[in-house]
Amino acid sequence: MGAGMSRPQTFYIETFGCQMNAHDSEKVAGQLVARGYRPAASSDEADLVFLNTCAIRDKAEQKVYSRLGQFKADAQAGKKVVAVLGCMAQLEGEKIFRQVPFVSLVCGSASYRKLPELLVQIEAGQRQVTGLAYDDEPFETEFTRRSNPFRAYITIIEGCDKACAYCVVPFTRGPERSRASDSILAEARQLVEEGTTEIQLLGQNVNSYRDPSRRRLSFAELLAAVGGIPGIRRVRFTTSHPRDFTGEIVQAIDSHPTLCDHVHLPVQSGSTRVLRRMAREYTREDYLEKIALIRSARRAISITTDIIVGFPGETEANFEETLSLLDDVQYDGAFSFKYSPRPNTSALALDGQVPEEEQGRRLVVLQARQREIQLARNQSLVGREFNVVVESRHSKQPQWVGRTTTNRVVNFASSGEERGSTVPVRVTAAGPNSLVGERVQTV
Ligand code: 5AD
Ligand code: SF4
Repeated sequence: MGAGMSRPQTFYIETFGCQMNAHDSEKVAGQLVARGYRPAASSDEADLVFLNTCAIRDKAEQKVYSRLGQFKADAQAGKKVVAVLGCMAQLEGEKIFRQVPFVSLVCGSASYRKLPELLVQIEAGQRQVTGLAYDDEPFETEFTRRSNPFRAYITIIEGCDKACAYCVVPFTRGPERSRASDSILAEARQLVEEGTTEIQLLGQNVNSYRDPSRRRLSFAELLAAVGGIPGIRRVRFTTSHPRDFTGEIVQAIDSHPTLCDHVHLPVQSGSTRVLRRMAREYTREDYLEKIALIRSARRAISITTDIIVGFPGETEANFEETLSLLDDVQYDGAFSFKYSPRPNTSALALDGQVPEEEQGRRLVVLQARQREIQLARNQSLVGREFNVVVESRHSKQPQWVGRTTTNRVVNFASSGEERGSTVPVRVTAAGPNSLVGERVQTV
């Protein structure tokens, strides 16, 4: 902060990356409000701008650096305090001050508990304050300011103890720390009382949840307990690691209608050789067994995934195995990425870099194949009726957007709906990424 500037009054948080980050921003916002800061409507109007950053791929970091550049003039003129939070802060640390000298605060996701103290240092006129140590416990606050009144995130486990060769997350979010089941359940009950429709349980690897309390609930038991809270409508969870995914989870979904019919199970590659090089701890066959578990459920559970193309050493034949896995599994959605080398990760030592152009080609081929699969799967739903939770309204037409339990987006015509309510919709058309429907009139 510039020398003459009084204590910043208003703040704005821009969030990059995953749902964990989105939820962290809600907690940070809550803490700031509790300390007397006021939320601003935009970064332009804020005295204090936080970028809550992602470091998963190099592109994510570049995006943040270019956004930071846009605050340069204001920051140098002492009109704004700029702070970098999140995964890139944790990963790059003080390097950020060298790259972007007008940044005042760098605070990693594992140090948010210290944020109030760090802000006091800034208010006292200190430049370049850091918070980069890991806290032993997941960051919780009674002040969380949830931005979506219908879908609420709850962190159940922070950090990651796996060592996937490509992944920076163990370095940005630290070792695994699970939250006590009582505290999770209390938060969920409270949210339901306040009218939340949907709860999403979050963790880098929710399947390795270990209840630190005496109840010692497994993840599947926790899921069942949250799903059994009176009045709860929908429960989702993300992300699952295939190695730790169990049949108990499928049984929990089967026996609790409130648990949504969707599992996100990142595979990364369809080639056992590449999976071994990635240190994923499962083979293609192991993974397909988990898929069979999910497919054996009484309900039709939709399955989505993450895929990396062009990992070091991935041959054309290995890539073809990923394509054939798409055909075998029939995913309802897939996020796919070109491999991006990340600091500290073990994959940096691997040979066989796949040229960027070839990575790009593989990505296009993969996405086209997956698009066809999704289109066919979605078209098979035309004529059927689903309950959707209403999320938003299109700005102009009398069109609404809802979501099925399988996490499909449905656009439907209706004269009026209430956000957060559940309504029946008949599917009339389908594209690869969403459905079109009409509201079924109930008597
Ligand atoms: N390069 C490309 N994609 C990556 N992911 C994680 N690390 C990398 C990387 N270094 C992808 C994985 C993960 C998703 C969140 O991001 O597919 O599941
Ligand atoms: Fe990005 Fe991973 Fe951090 Fe989420 S946990 S913000 S995906 S680096």
